[in-house]
Amino acid sequence: MNIHRYEKLWLVAALVLIVGFIATITYGSVGLGIAMIDDEAETVNPEKLNEHEDFGEPGVKQVGENEYEVYVRAWQFGFDPGSVEAGLDPIEVPANSTVTFYITSEDVIHSFSVVGTNINTMAIPGEVSSVTVEFDEPGEYGILCAEYCGAGHHTMEGKIIVHPEDEYAINGTDVETGNDTTDETEA
Ligand code: CUA
Repeated sequence: MNIHRYEKLWLVAALVLIVGFIATITYGSVGLGIAMIDDEAETVNPEKLNEHEDFGEPGVKQVGENEYEVYVRAWQFGFDPGSVEAGLDPIEVPANSTVTFYITSEDVIHSFSVVGTNINTMAIPGEVSSVTVEFDEPGEYGILCAEYCGAGHHTMEGKIIVHPEDEYAINGTDVETGNDTTDETEA
């Protein structure tokens, strides 16, 4: 069989393209260090959140001088803490702090979206989403659920209050900066 010279050229060009595409896709999926959410995400049992060491008592924990962790449980239809309307505490942190939110869901998929910021993460039963933010200024922020989650979806909301540093108290007691740490940092 006689293959025309141009035909050979086209065959080679097509092969180079195919190999190039495969290399690009491979690089894009593994070379950049992109991890899928379930590769490393912490998992929790949504049926047993009450027994979980952090989600059993959701709320604000101080973990460093200006560092806080906030564990939040989303449910149909609210955030614990956050949903003031449901009789729960708002999320209260001091200004000039770095706050990491850990969010999970008790039931269906929700989101934890803070109005006026770029905080917008999913709340997935069985998984823990986390997002770290810095609150520079005192103020109030609304939390919304941006994933349709049922009849009460539009009522699902919460509140974050960022207090001036010198007026901040955690769990009703004044925080002595650098003195009041949780077990986690002492461990
Ligand atoms: Cu929760 Cu929409």
